[in-house]
Amino acid sequence: MASDAQPPDRPLVRPFVVIDDFLPPELQQHIWLYFQVENFARVDVSSPTGQWSWHDGAALRGPTIGYKTKWHAKYPTGTAVDALMETLVRQEERLRPALGRYEIDWDDFSASPSLYPSGTGLSWHRDAETNAGSFVYYVHPQWNVEWGGELMLGDPSQMSIPASHGPFFNPAPVESEDDGASWLNSHMENQRASDTLLASGVGSFVMPKSNRLVVIRGGLPHKIAKVSVAAGSHLRASVTGFFKRTASKLIR
Ligand SMILES: [Fe+2]
Repeated sequence: MASDAQPPDRPLVRPFVVIDDFLPPELQQHIWLYFQVENFARVDVSSPTGQWSWHDGAALRGPTIGYKTKWHAKYPTGTAVDALMETLVRQEERLRPALGRYEIDWDDFSASPSLYPSGTGLSWHRDAETNAGSFVYYVHPQWNVEWGGELMLGDPSQMSIPASHGPFFNPAPVESEDDGASWLNSHMENQRASDTLLASGVGSFVMPKSNRLVVIRGGLPHKIAKVSVAAGSHLRASVTGFFKRTASKLIR
């Protein structure tokens, strides 16, 4: 690609990075085995008004692991997810086009095991402004192009949607405008979000290919297409997480 010839002092900025065969097969297998024994809970139990709309179905989530700080757990956990977290840090250079530099643009990050059964997905949103970006690593041993579950990514031009519209593109009432980014979700009323995203109405998709890592830049709108009935009992199994911006660092 000609753009790769840019000098190193002007790093190429991409809205997302896709890396296939990210982990050695035996590590992927260990994480897949970990999924068999971990406890998962429906996301709508803990986060009824999060980015999950009522029609998104009930995706399942395991414990969130923090790399430097404790969420439900803290690295090292003694589970196979440790190896994934270590690989993300060790290979951070490959993530830079979407994320910036480790310990300069981001430092801490989270990792959550997630399961999307047939009929579940995740509505359009963008991640919190405190995130330099996010990642998804596909753990399931196989996928089929008709099984759905694609990561849908908005057009880079949509990264200029004002931060005040919040993660769900749903501006707060005028009288609350001074409170910062809107806290309103779009799960009950998404007309503003729909109008905003339909204005360009184009983007990219990434199929949930086994052993694939996707890193998306903070601020890029995204959603997860519903896993199809064609997937049957095959679950879309992934580890997802957020790269937290270092204090005072804004790379948007
Ligand atoms: Fe997200």
